[in-house]
Amino acid sequence: KVADLKGLKQGQLKLAVITTAKYFVPRLLGPFCQLYPGIDISLQVTNHERILERMINNLDDLYIMSQVPENIDVNCQPFLDNPLVVFAPVNHPLAKEKNIPIERLAQEAFIMREPGSGTRRAIQSLFDKHELTVKVKLELGSNEAIKQAIAGGLGISVLSRHTLTSDSSEFSILDVEHFPIKRTWYIVYPSGKQLSIVARTYYDYLINAAKNFIEQNTSFSWGTFEQL
Ligand code: PGA
Repeated sequence: KVADLKGLKQGQLKLAVITTAKYFVPRLLGPFCQLYPGIDISLQVTNHERILERMINNLDDLYIMSQVPENIDVNCQPFLDNPLVVFAPVNHPLAKEKNIPIERLAQEAFIMREPGSGTRRAIQSLFDKHELTVKVKLELGSNEAIKQAIAGGLGISVLSRHTLTSDSSEFSILDVEHFPIKRTWYIVYPSGKQLSIVARTYYDYLINAAKNFIEQNTSFSWGTFEQL
């Protein structure tokens, strides 16, 4: 068993993850690689649509995404919440208000992710449901770039709560009705695919790491958002 941990598990692990997971997943790779030094990893970080393309072309062992593909037969396991919240600059006039009507967002300059983004799709479907049209001031293909634009005062946006890191003092999370948009990260692979021992090892590791993460980060439960 010890030999198993220390080197018998060898080979290549190919992962592809959506952009919101790019903080969580790489952080976990350090301890994983220490545990399994014989495993080499390649990690692609891209948007929902590109992940689907990669899956169709069978380019990776495992995928992490928030919306399970409808037209591909997959095996999927939810492992962590991925709430989408309204980000604004820290001194935004709405920052202190409670239960802001969603319609109020129409008066703000909005920064939107690129077409193909799952985040964008989730935002758009909430806005469509409430027949809301926002003023898209800027379209950007990166969560990080959007955060910089918000901090620079260009507007507000809706991003995964996971994109907030040590820079949290620069932003406020607005308390808007119908938010957070509840989403979940899934670990996914095509149904017919036989996972390698290496991929199976990572799969189990990720599920376990997510469980520990939930236990240690109570701020990720739904009720405590105001405390952020
Ligand atoms: P995105 O992925 O990078 O495609 O927006 C995030 C998500 O789907 O939750």
